[in-house]
Amino acid sequence: MSVAADSIPDRQRIIWDQFAAGWKKWDAELLDWRAPFGDAVIQDARLHPDSIVLDVASGTGEPGLTAAALVPDGEVVLTDISAGMLHVAEEKASTRGLANVSFTACDAAELPFDDATFDAVLCRFGFNYFPDIRSAVREMVRTAKPGARISAAVWGRTAENPWATLVLGTLAQHTELPHPPGVMPGLFRCSTPGFMTRLFRDAGLVDVAERKVSTDLVHDSPESYWEFITDIAITVATGLAKADKEARSLIRSDVFQLLGRYEHQGALRLRSTATIVAGTRA
Ligand SMILES: C[S@@+](CC[C@H](N)C(=O)[O-])C[C@H]1O[C@@H](n2cnc3c(N)ncnc32)[C@H](O)[C@@H]1O
Repeated sequence: MSVAADSIPDRQRIIWDQFAAGWKKWDAELLDWRAPFGDAVIQDARLHPDSIVLDVASGTGEPGLTAAALVPDGEVVLTDISAGMLHVAEEKASTRGLANVSFTACDAAELPFDDATFDAVLCRFGFNYFPDIRSAVREMVRTAKPGARISAAVWGRTAENPWATLVLGTLAQHTELPHPPGVMPGLFRCSTPGFMTRLFRDAGLVDVAERKVSTDLVHDSPESYWEFITDIAITVATGLAKADKEARSLIRSDVFQLLGRYEHQGALRLRSTATIVAGTRA
C-alpha cells in the first residue's frame, strides 16, 4: 500500500508522541550512546558563545540541550513535530537549569522562523524521518544567516549498524516491512555515501563535507537490549505490531540467539555508525 507523503507528518506526530514515554525511560542510555554523534554535529557547526542556534527534530532534546551549555551568551531553539517528545526535552532543560532555550512544535518542512535568523542549524537523526528531505534542508538554509553552518547526523550503512539491522533483518524474515528502503522515511534512506553531501550542495550550501562516526550500543543482557529497542525504535515496534503472537515470540528468540555474536567482555556491544554532514550557507 502506498502512503500519501502529506499524511506522513501527521502519523509521525502521533507515533512519536506515543514513543516519548519510552525515550524518557531510557534517557540516560540514549544520552550516553548517542553523545559521540551529537558532539560531532556540534563540532562541525562551529558554535560561538553568542551563537543563535536552531535544533531541528530535537526529540527529547539533543543535540540542542548540549549546545545550549556551549552558547552561554546565545540561545537555542529546539523544534520537533512531536509536542510529546519536546515536552521531555523541556523537563530536562529545567532540571539542568538552562535559561537560554525555547521550544516550538513544528514540521521541519515549514519552520515558523524568519529568513536568516540562526548562526547554526543542527539536526541529529531527523532526515531519516522527514517525508520531504529537500523541503527540510531548504527551510534550514532559508532560516540560516549567510555564513551560518548547517550540521546533521544520519544513520550510515546497514552493515555498520547491527544495533538496528539485527532486529530489523529478523523482522523482515517474519513480517512484511512497511516500505522499500531508500524511498520512504526509514533508518537507512540517507545511508549511501555522498547522498547527504549532494543534498546539501543541491540546496546551495558550500564548504560541504561528510565524515563517519561510530560507537557501540552497549547492553548487559539480551533482555535489556530487547526492552530498549522495542521501547525506542518505531520501525521495530511497528513491525512487531504487525506480527502475530507466535511470530513475535519467534522473532524475539531469533534476536536473542543472534545477539550471542556481539558478546564481548561480559556485555553486548553492537556497532552503530552515522554520517555527519555539514555545510555553510553562502
Ligand atoms: C530519532 S528521533 C531523534 C531525536 C533527537 N534529535 C536525537 O538525536 O536523539 C527523530 C525525531 O524526528 C522527529 N520528526 C519526525 N518527522 C518530523 C518532521 N517532519 N518535522 C520535525 N520533526 C520530525 C520525531 O518526532 C522525533 O522526535
